[in-house]
Amino acid sequence: MAEVLHTRKELAAAREAMTGTVGVVMTMGALHAGHEMLLRAARERADHVIVTIFVNPLQFGPNEDFDRYPRTLDTDLEICRRVGVDAVFAPPVAEMYPEGQPTVRLNPGPLGEDLEGLSRPGFFHGVLTVVMKLLQLTQPDLAFFGEKDYQQLTLVRRMVRDLDVPTEIVGVPTVREPDGLALSSRNRYLSAAEREAALSLSVALRAGAAAAVRGEDAGAVLAAAHRAFDNPAARLDYLVLTDTELEPGPVDGPARLLIAAWVGATRLIDNTAIHLAPRP
Ligand code: PAF
Repeated sequence: MAEVLHTRKELAAAREAMTGTVGVVMTMGALHAGHEMLLRAARERADHVIVTIFVNPLQFGPNEDFDRYPRTLDTDLEICRRVGVDAVFAPPVAEMYPEGQPTVRLNPGPLGEDLEGLSRPGFFHGVLTVVMKLLQLTQPDLAFFGEKDYQQLTLVRRMVRDLDVPTEIVGVPTVREPDGLALSSRNRYLSAAEREAALSLSVALRAGAAAAVRGEDAGAVLAAAHRAFDNPAARLDYLVLTDTELEPGPVDGPARLLIAAWVGATRLIDNTAIHLAPRP
């Protein structure tokens, strides 16, 4: 039975009692099968699993969905119990930010201003700040993040490297619906027609990946993905091919194809691994 903790004092006591390795999965709640995969990965690798559930106001812009972001604690706890999580830390905002919004925040560097950061200024400052706070509070050996938020995963990896945080960051593959739609807490905002349009993201990624498998070069991979993204009900924000560290596109070898698009009022993201054939 997962212990539910609301204060840092309760968390500290529970953490103190844990012997062996500790894995943390940080979430904003509204858990779905993608999160469950993270929990199961943590359960497999660590002796104890802590899940954090906190809708972090710092990472929402003034016109974003902080107030309407789904909050489903009871169902979240059921999933945590089913997987055998040891402790759930679900603090109120005042417990995480007792002095109000922090004036000191982590700077994600240039990568934080690109892609998601371009459309959502300050987003990664907010993400990295809360991730660092939760790392300090949970003191984990391992922390698990989904590949679905690939830029977040990349920046968290860089942060622990750059700031000598003694936690191993583990990336966990994206979970998809049978038709390819990547699971996301925001999918619940989509109407039936919008859900149909949302498929354009994964269709574009699959077209790019297929072009790479055929041995086509980076330009052709990107062009194939653009051609496949063809639903007028979805508005493209970006579609880019980068290296695996999100640096500008490689000419061959491992790469990442990333996409963001608006479907109605909902902004969705997705990405996939690509392997570009060696150039002669
Ligand atoms: O990926 C998320 O749900 C959030 O960005 C995270 C890592 C829990 C930080 O608030």
